[in-house]
Amino acid sequence: MENADFQDINEVKANMDHIYNQPDPRAYFRELKKLNYSIPDTALPIFRKIIEQVRQDEDDTVHVLDLGCSYGVNAALLKHDLSMDELYTHWAHAELAGANAKEVAARDKEFFTNLENPDNIEVIGLDLAQNAISFGEDVGLLDEGLAVNLETGGLPVQAREMLSPIDLVTSTGCIGYVTEKTFDNILPAVMAGRSPWIANFVLRMFPFDAIEETLADRGYVTEKLEGQTFLQRRFESDDEQEQALDQLREQGFEPTNEEVDGNLVAEFFLSRPKRDAEEMSLESLLAA
Ligand SMILES: C[S@@+](CC[C@H](N)C(=O)[O-])C[C@H]1O[C@@H](n2cnc3c(N)ncnc32)[C@H](O)[C@@H]1O
Repeated sequence: MENADFQDINEVKANMDHIYNQPDPRAYFRELKKLNYSIPDTALPIFRKIIEQVRQDEDDTVHVLDLGCSYGVNAALLKHDLSMDELYTHWAHAELAGANAKEVAARDKEFFTNLENPDNIEVIGLDLAQNAISFGEDVGLLDEGLAVNLETGGLPVQAREMLSPIDLVTSTGCIGYVTEKTFDNILPAVMAGRSPWIANFVLRMFPFDAIEETLADRGYVTEKLEGQTFLQRRFESDDEQEQALDQLREQGFEPTNEEVDGNLVAEFFLSRPKRDAEEMSLESLLAA
């Protein structure tokens, strides 16, 4: 599927661009709480299982590249075992009323750098939102950040080395904004190391085919987890729901009960180098 098609599908979704690049995360969490945005939470148990599979030795640090990382949302959950509810409460704290972004960052730096990282995970975050990346780096949620748009340009040369230790690429709420172009741009850099596994949670209305083909060209095999969907968020309006359901039907999919009841749901795709995929099926590794 071409980029333009993803752009058309994006028209169906409520536009959230105004909250993605604020100097601190308060607006992001305030607005998404209203929609019960949950995908980082519902994805977490799967990411945890996958992380334990890619970890080669017990004491190894696992290096994650999180695409469309925003302020470091998945990083907060993965590294510090926080939940979305805890983050919603954290960034709505009464103490923050009237604080400026610098004051929020100072408070958060102290908060996050004092938290444990029991599973020894490092997260490099990639997002086009420069302010979100800077915030994530400043407060220590992101070990490193890349503020780039790989839909419109290539990977900066200096970023190649940064991406070579990556063991796992993750994304939640990001496919649709990014297409096969972003993957095409990161693959040479991340594959310079050990060819990471690639774990994407994808809204049902975004076909994964073109990304799957791009990954297959580099020797990756993609499996979709069958029979399971993951709550992303409530529809923002009846109009959004109606258009999303139409979009699904146009693609030949019958809406699920969750979608009819008012929720956007995602599916899980795991892409692995052929030899890894042949060793163990996705179902078996999640059951392990
Ligand atoms: C719905 S948010 C998801 C954020 C985070 N992953 C989460 O689940 O909370 C989508 C993110 O994709 C980012 N994004 C949009 N276009 C992008 C692009 N071309 N490249 C990288 N990130 C992009 C936005 O800035 C935003 O942070």
